[in-house]
Amino acid sequence: MLSLANTYNMGEVKDFFQRVKNGLEGEEFEIVAEMKYDGLSISLTYVDGSLVRAVTRGDGEKGDDVTANVRTIRSIPLQLNQNAGYPHEFEIRGEILMPWVSFEKLNKEREANEEPLFANPRNAASGTLKSQKSELVAHRQLDAYLYYLLGDEIPQDGTHYGNLLLAQKWGFKISQGMKLCKTLADIEEFINYWDVERKNLPVATDGIVLKVNSLRQQRHLGFTAKSPRWAIAYKFQAERACTRLNEVTYQVGRTGAITPVANMDPVQLSGTVVRRASLHNADIIAQLDLHIGDMVYVEKGGEIIPKVVGVDKSQRKEGMQPVVFISKCPECGADLVRVEGEAAYYCPNENHCPPQIKGRIEHFISRKAMNIESLGPETVNDYYQRGIICNIADLYDIKVQDIDGAMGTRTKSAKKVVDGIRNTVNVPFERVVFALGIRFVGESTAKLLARRFKSMKSLMEAGMDDLLEVEGVGSVIANSVISFFKSEENLAVIKRLEEHGVQMELEETSAGTTTTKLSGKSVVVSGVFTQHSRDEYKLLIEQNGGKNVGSISSKTSFVLAGDNMGPSKLEKAQKLNIPIINEAEFLKMIE
Ligand code: IVH
Repeated sequence: MLSLANTYNMGEVKDFFQRVKNGLEGEEFEIVAEMKYDGLSISLTYVDGSLVRAVTRGDGEKGDDVTANVRTIRSIPLQLNQNAGYPHEFEIRGEILMPWVSFEKLNKEREANEEPLFANPRNAASGTLKSQKSELVAHRQLDAYLYYLLGDEIPQDGTHYGNLLLAQKWGFKISQGMKLCKTLADIEEFINYWDVERKNLPVATDGIVLKVNSLRQQRHLGFTAKSPRWAIAYKFQAERACTRLNEVTYQVGRTGAITPVANMDPVQLSGTVVRRASLHNADIIAQLDLHIGDMVYVEKGGEIIPKVVGVDKSQRKEGMQPVVFISKCPECGADLVRVEGEAAYYCPNENHCPPQIKGRIEHFISRKAMNIESLGPETVNDYYQRGIICNIADLYDIKVQDIDGAMGTRTKSAKKVVDGIRNTVNVPFERVVFALGIRFVGESTAKLLARRFKSMKSLMEAGMDDLLEVEGVGSVIANSVISFFKSEENLAVIKRLEEHGVQMELEETSAGTTTTKLSGKSVVVSGVFTQHSRDEYKLLIEQNGGKNVGSISSKTSFVLAGDNMGPSKLEKAQKLNIPIINEAEFLKMIE
């Protein structure tokens, strides 16, 4: 699933309009304007009129299967209207939302039960959809609007507008107020109308989406790597509130980064009560020339956490004190440091500062790292407080009797925790590298490091030059990796992980060549795939002796094409007579 490029003013919308005009070489075109819903993207697949699969966006390539939960959402038809002429199989994408009324009701219930509140309807919808209990999902009354039809059997010569009207006939809810625009003035009128009127809609919207209407013209304009050239989002200006700053407190993150937080008088903002807002870093505080007692402007953009964007200095009174950034860690008292060229201050006491220790353990157990589902932040906190764990290796020493009874656990769930930890010996090396929580080493960098160095031993021994050879690794990441492996404490933890059987090497199949079926072949991978992610296909090509190349040339052996392959690539491949094969053909080839 791709995303949309954003615009924030009419000037940028005008630029988009002009780009479309140029791309279509003067041909007439129409633009469909529709609401931009602020929920969770979903992809629904229907076969013979029945909903067969619902998948979340995930990272854009791979999402979660949430079919059972989606089946409980009333506005998503389980069975399409009979005789409505729907295709045998198609996919429809849209947004799942929690209506304002359900959101407010839910937060009231949570407040009464002393449970943490959801910050906004999007988070509430997302949390709900992840629930294991479909009855609970049904109870929370989610809603859905659909905005994009795709599949081989969808009429390719029609219009987006026409397709959405068809979808409506089949039984889906589509954008409120959808309008066909011919001129920029039509678009501006739509934006101005909905900027005000959206406040009366039952669900959250954060802008409008503009799409070229003709599907033929959409194909002609094609896609960039991230988004279609035939569509754009216009984001409404974030709502702003003004309130008093009472105090600045400081949070310590897993990597020791210090985040200043503004604590303010509660104020209503975009449907929720806001009391705290991020101040990001010391530079922002200085730029704002922030004083305690100031009346500050708070905005909530697309982010969950609101931010302070300005100060009403006309309301400042004499004697108010400027905010002075702390010099010592609020959790452990260590002197803070600031790395040259970076905005954040850090607490350097990584092995003894409690939020850093707990944060690293939480990161280690998280879904994209070791994925220990039987543990969560509260359990980590509890075990840490009780002295059971103080680093990630300690997890592997936990015995059922250590935690039996902790936080009300029974033997059965204590055993589940221990088994969950033991099972991580099967987690592939790439994820182990990510799980270590090396500063600046995200999921994809960890993968690249694991594939390049193939074992913990050689990653530990890697020097600056070796690291800089890895795609996307610059001196900041390289320095961070080197200093991570310089720490005696980190080395001791890794040694213990190894003794417990955690994977310290890339598995045979992902490390080396497994077949020579593609030897000598240069392959371009383009588009969006269903059976494997694009990265997995790239790996499969390498494992079978082939070479991945970024762009098509006369030397390209073939293009492995998924959905929505870029039109310029398609044109070039056709011009050079390069074979284009789909994923099924490819998988057969390397079978
Ligand atoms: S069209 C290939 N239409 O906005 C184009 N997206 O910022 C697919 N969204 O991931 C997107 N309302 O989750 C489209 N009317 C609408 C939308 C919409 C909300 C979301 C969608 C997408 C995100 C992009």
